[in-house]
Amino acid sequence: MKSFKVLSILLVVAFLFTACAPAAPAAEAPAAEAPAAEAPATEAPAAEAPAAEAPAAPAGELKVAVLAPLSGPVPTFGNSTRDGFLLAVEEWNAKGGVLGMTIVPLVEDSQCTPDPAVNAANKVISQDGVHYIVGEVCSKASIPISEIANAAGVIQISPTSTNPSVTVDANGQTKDYIFRACFIDPFQGLVGAKFAIENLGAKTAFVMVDQANDYVKGLAQFFTEAFTAAGGTVVGTESYTANDTDFSAILAKVADANPDVVYLPDYYNIVNLATKQAKEKGITAAFLGGDGWDSADLDVASADGGYFTNHYSPEDPRPEVQNFVAAYNAKYGSTPDALATLAYDATNLLFQAITEAGADDTALVKAAMAAINFNGVSGNITFDASHNPIKSATILKVTADGVKFEAVVNP
Ligand code: PHE
Repeated sequence: MKSFKVLSILLVVAFLFTACAPAAPAAEAPAAEAPAAEAPATEAPAAEAPAAEAPAAPAGELKVAVLAPLSGPVPTFGNSTRDGFLLAVEEWNAKGGVLGMTIVPLVEDSQCTPDPAVNAANKVISQDGVHYIVGEVCSKASIPISEIANAAGVIQISPTSTNPSVTVDANGQTKDYIFRACFIDPFQGLVGAKFAIENLGAKTAFVMVDQANDYVKGLAQFFTEAFTAAGGTVVGTESYTANDTDFSAILAKVADANPDVVYLPDYYNIVNLATKQAKEKGITAAFLGGDGWDSADLDVASADGGYFTNHYSPEDPRPEVQNFVAAYNAKYGSTPDALATLAYDATNLLFQAITEAGADDTALVKAAMAAINFNGVSGNITFDASHNPIKSATILKVTADGVKFEAVVNP
């Protein structure tokens, strides 16, 4: 842990001196040069000899990295994100690239976990000379990446990280180079709470939360605030950790409290365990959650009867959605989930911003992005002052036959 932090601070310092320098042609920056990550901490004081000598892409190439959890607790998130990203890259390259540059995609496994995410960000920035990052999926990985990218003047767009702290620092300042393609959790929690009260007639809710996961913790809090403000009562809140596999103690409390709904805003791996054990205990309250439930590996038999808020539904008849679903299905033989769709949108949005900026210059691209009007599959995107899009949410219902479209909720 410590060495990762020290390394990232060194790299950040180094980037401050190199990131804004005009890109040197690749011929002058051979790939064989010692990458910063291998330089001992005692050498190379940043001010005199920048540690990070990132090789610039050849003039005709534009390197773009996707950082996604291909392994770790939630691999379907990473696979979908990579696939949506690569489809967008392929389509732009087929049209002649971006500003005549061929896009060179880089794929890194950041595992939905802070340390691997930091390593992947440092690697693509310092060793590969990337100016643009799509990712991560998970807020707890996107937040540390955002610190590195913003300090280095590298654009990061997260397709799906919904926690407010991805784009805004602890003082409420917007991170200039950081954007996202999704709504944020204060809205997602509100939509879940209103749906519970207005559509399910819920008066009481029980909240389950992993306090160490920024996304889960934030969404649990936003749901609780909104549910209470709308007249509901939270009859219990219980914490677990990401390593827990036995939820029986918490579920015993749920059974005692007998709430109308249980809010479990975690990823599908935890949802599968908890809802299975709840069914075995005879708990009939509907489980509700957020976008983290969206996975081909959601156990629909266990989560049957539950609902979750999400970014999109492949059943949406809009032509943008249906054309994308067809193109994705032709390439991969499966239906895109929200992660694939938002990765596709985030990548297209980035390429549109670079095109509008007119150059591979992140200072220009960030300004173009902040002012963009982008028509995506998941909806139209313009950014507010905090670099968050204002977008509608979709509510999906879990049945034993699969996940079904239930409703759209506008902001
Ligand atoms: N919103 C989640 C987070 O911020 C990630 C996620 C998005 C997971 C969409 C699944 C689907 O961590």
